[in-house]
Amino acid sequence: MLNTFYIENYGCQMNIYDNELIISILKKNNYYYVDNIFMADLILINTCSIREKAETTIHNRLLYINSLKRKTSKIIGLIGCMARRINSNYYFKKKFLDFILGPDQYRELPNIIKSLNDNRYFSNIILSNEETYSDIFPTKIYNRNKITSYVTISRGCDNMCTFCVVPFTRGRERSKSPNNILKECKRLYNMGYKEITLLGQNVDSYLWTKKNYIKKKIKKTSRDKIVNFSNLLELIAKNIPNMRIRFCTSNPHDMSIDVISTIKKYNNICKYIHLPVQSGSNRILKLMNRKYTRLEYIKLIELIKNKIPDCAISYDIITGFCTETEKDHIDTLNLMEYIKYDFGYMFCYSHRKGTYAYNKLKDDVSIEKKKKRLKEIINLQRKHSYEILNKYVNTIQEVLIEGNSKKDKNYWFGRNSQNTLVVFKKKNEKIGDFVNVKVLKNTSATLIGERIK
Ligand code: 5AD
Ligand code: SF4
Repeated sequence: MLNTFYIENYGCQMNIYDNELIISILKKNNYYYVDNIFMADLILINTCSIREKAETTIHNRLLYINSLKRKTSKIIGLIGCMARRINSNYYFKKKFLDFILGPDQYRELPNIIKSLNDNRYFSNIILSNEETYSDIFPTKIYNRNKITSYVTISRGCDNMCTFCVVPFTRGRERSKSPNNILKECKRLYNMGYKEITLLGQNVDSYLWTKKNYIKKKIKKTSRDKIVNFSNLLELIAKNIPNMRIRFCTSNPHDMSIDVISTIKKYNNICKYIHLPVQSGSNRILKLMNRKYTRLEYIKLIELIKNKIPDCAISYDIITGFCTETEKDHIDTLNLMEYIKYDFGYMFCYSHRKGTYAYNKLKDDVSIEKKKKRLKEIINLQRKHSYEILNKYVNTIQEVLIEGNSKKDKNYWFGRNSQNTLVVFKKKNEKIGDFVNVKVLKNTSATLIGERIK
């Protein structure tokens, strides 16, 4: 009889949230979560497909886990984004896996586990237009200090950027009901959480009506109240005024002025927006199907900075997308120079089977060029981050204490509203306190200060 399970996580915050949903689903069915792979009867591998490297890492890990499986009688399930992409015959034949399940099928887990036997493997990946797991409260296992937590507000993506597998691995976009989101946030607040991050592949296209919450099917005649992302932010900020609110990821094409006004209006909404640009070249943006131009992106940033001067902005940038020339790359560097981002996430382009780019374009930038361009972006960002953080010196920042500083246990680490890491010497504070810290100096990634009250 199986009764203990372990989940190994790869990928983004969405997967972390999903793991906590799965724990709730399995616990309800009398399975016990264990934090140790060797103690588990069932091992779930929650996977990521965004770049080839993630899939290779997971494949190598499965080789190792297979050696455990042969020595013991463990059941191995692969779940999440790789589910629809891997060659299930190969993995089943080699007996690496007992079942594969997609991100919209976690409710089926208890039945599948019960129905498994030595000769039967399960793999029937179905994506849903409706599943949001809205009624399930995730069992919190990450962030042991119970200070910050994720709350998923929507699943899937309809944007179809030509480089991205997400619309294929996670399916169509659908939003969770605002009441259930608010209930979840309130419950976290009552458990002592101080900060939540609202998650969606594209939070700005969050949209819900009572009658029909699938975006595409909303009829203009519907008299039900429509809740958009700005309304949702306001609902949470107003109802839980002492909870800090973050959100991720924003899409430049969908972000509205209303969202910016709501961020400005509420003190408890953090002044930080992650706004992936992907490239600074109009030609590449078009090939990527990003649906905005460089100028429109710049105008949006200017709008944000005019309304909320202290708002921090970060980005995702991909180097070496199909046909990217040195000139396109210089456009990206120039854009960074113009905007001066607080920080960013940068990646070498990875040609993903199934995407439009894979089918129609050529992965014709060499890995050496991709890496060289990446390095230039990293170096420029490091310089900008240092300059921006240096402007905080001698200012006072409100910091939520999250835990011990990694480098020195006599120091706390926390974040300010702009999501910058702040460390300062401990006095008599505790984890979860909001404190004022005077910034004394900075590196390119951290502010170092002292508590002032
Ligand atoms: N190659 C490299 N980076 C990618 N991303 C998405 N797809 C790819 C890909 N095929 C990056 C984008 C996105 C972030 C989550 O991952 O920058 O914003
Ligand atoms: Fe992928 Fe684009 Fe959707 Fe982001 S918005 S998940 S990059 S398709």
